[in-house]
Amino acid sequence: MPGGQSSPQVVFNVEATCRSVTDTVSGVLSPGALRSQLASAAPVVLPSMLLCDFAHLADEIKRVEAAGVHALHLDVMDGHFVPNLTYGPTIVEACRSCTNLPIDCHLMISNPARYVADYHKAGANSLTIHIEAVPDPRPVLEQIRSLGALAGLALNPSTPLESILNVLDVCDLVLVMSVQPGFGGQKFQPVALEKLKQLRKLVKPEVLLEVDGGVNESTIKTCAEAGAQLFVVGSAIFGKEDYNQSVHHLCQLAHV
Ligand code: DX5
Ligand code: ZN
Repeated sequence: MPGGQSSPQVVFNVEATCRSVTDTVSGVLSPGALRSQLASAAPVVLPSMLLCDFAHLADEIKRVEAAGVHALHLDVMDGHFVPNLTYGPTIVEACRSCTNLPIDCHLMISNPARYVADYHKAGANSLTIHIEAVPDPRPVLEQIRSLGALAGLALNPSTPLESILNVLDVCDLVLVMSVQPGFGGQKFQPVALEKLKQLRKLVKPEVLLEVDGGVNESTIKTCAEAGAQLFVVGSAIFGKEDYNQSVHHLCQLAHV
């Protein structure tokens, strides 16, 4: 929780999920438990709040929560690693204050080591850094784990998979970018599919595979077939009137 030293407390609720789970499982989850819950709830659609109506942030969170999403995806951009600026920890804290959903922070920032503790303290449950942002991601991934969050590593469409192979042992999650990071609403790049397929064979079964960028009704199924479990979706939710219908349709399509 904001201000605390330990892992943010998450009440995980799998009622009304894409898998039509009827039991409600609530309780405070450790990072390991969160990882297994997300894996067993797959396919999991994570709304990228980047494209929500920020004048009504709390309402937007309630709307996606009511649609049965399992977590929120927050795109943190620093205007340096990517040519766009978004949230500081204050916004993460604001999100934390109005939901018990896990918060998945995608850090598109230079020097992530300097900020991971702040984002965790603000309420992030998973922190994903970019391989392109750090010469050696191992110490930062270990730092994230020691904070009590899931450690994620992202790679851009043009970055070869080989660049992350030697650090997969310290990843709880791998985020395969299917667009150049920085902006929502871009076209899906199929190069992500081959990476997902390769990763599914390379990583331990408990490592979560996430895909981000241009994921919509036309592309989600092939991502699921390639091995993705977590699907970050911006415009295909927030560009629609009915979030509930969009989330459920996407989940249906991702069942493979
Ligand atoms: C891009 C972000 C994505 C993006 C998703 O840098 O990481 O999360 O906002 O938006 P859509 O689904 O519109 O591509
Ligand atoms: Zn993202």
